[in-house]
Amino acid sequence: MTLLADDQSVARRILDHIDHSTTDLSASTWREPVEHYRSPGRLALELERAFRHSPTPFCPSAALAEPGAYLAREAAGTPILAVRGRDGEVRAFRNACRHRGVQVAEGSGCGTAFVCRYHGWTYGLDGALRHVPHAHGFPDLDPARHGLVPVRAVERHGLVFVTQDEPELAEPCLDELAGVLPPELRLHSVTEEVFAANWKILMDGFLEGYHLRATHRRTFYPIQFDNLNVIERFGRNSRVAFPYQRIGKLRSVPAAERSVDGMLTYVYHLFPNVVVATFPLTRAVIVQEPLGVDRTRVINYTLTALPEGDADAEAALKSALDFQREGAAEDRDVACSAQRALASGANEFYEFGRFEGALTHFHRSLAEVVNGAAGAARAASG
Ligand code: FES
Ligand SMILES: [Fe+2]
Repeated sequence: MTLLADDQSVARRILDHIDHSTTDLSASTWREPVEHYRSPGRLALELERAFRHSPTPFCPSAALAEPGAYLAREAAGTPILAVRGRDGEVRAFRNACRHRGVQVAEGSGCGTAFVCRYHGWTYGLDGALRHVPHAHGFPDLDPARHGLVPVRAVERHGLVFVTQDEPELAEPCLDELAGVLPPELRLHSVTEEVFAANWKILMDGFLEGYHLRATHRRTFYPIQFDNLNVIERFGRNSRVAFPYQRIGKLRSVPAAERSVDGMLTYVYHLFPNVVVATFPLTRAVIVQEPLGVDRTRVINYTLTALPEGDADAEAALKSALDFQREGAAEDRDVACSAQRALASGANEFYEFGRFEGALTHFHRSLAEVVNGAAGAARAASG
């Protein structure tokens, strides 16, 4: 069962907002302590409780399209290796050789085994230790107890979720994601950049349209609306709809037949650190990976259903992606500006208004996970 409204209801709410110059309002405002963006102790708690103990989106399924496809990266400070086995199942492991700990894979690729580059211990796609060079040097080694150490991986609705530490705090949600990343999507490209900003400053920028005119004056604002969003929550996650001006054309379509395809961008915030955004030609899966209180690696997977190798499709994709990148650069600029001002002492709290309800939901959920429910109530009254 989904907690999200259907497209027809979202379209109706958006057209109402356009008619009345309104937007969705949250019930209350929220004050988030700036210290939560600065404190290494707080970040350590976030990583432990919100990232490692929860099913966290690791990558789109399309990044592991075929048997043998693997992807290695750090998640919440832990090197993780995810791989699709010959049986089609995705498995994930701590990416550390059981001899002396070197990572057995880097980046992404497709293969039949993982050979450690230090001394050549070799593991199957299922993580089993298959070969030890000069094995007589390890007379007591039980290969069955020296496979790669697994972590829990589940694949749901086009995403691979990894839970590093048991017991996990929640199942991945997720009927709400049905159809968002359909199987016909292919991985088009992956970018990776490191920004000098706290991971939550970057996340916050995805979750409200209040900044649309001021920040994106020449990019998104001319084709969208300032401060006009439909905001919904599901579990600790949320979905924010950013309509395009052409959605006005739906007025001439009977309400029951309205499709919002190409009429808006849905931004799904998957707690804690991942965004899935829908665009007319692409889907983006964007991971904010904390590297420290003031540094974040942003990994952006672009997926598309357009055919590979088709010149017209590639040209259309390039122009769409160039446009998205221009807008995203504006978001990163303001995020890095806020980061540089964190130490100014000007703000003890960030103030989230009633337009910024998805941020309130994010930070309330994070407070609950980090401190328990009592902590969230304290933060709200602070
Ligand atoms: S550390 Fe991997 S084989 Fe030695
Ligand atoms: Fe933005």
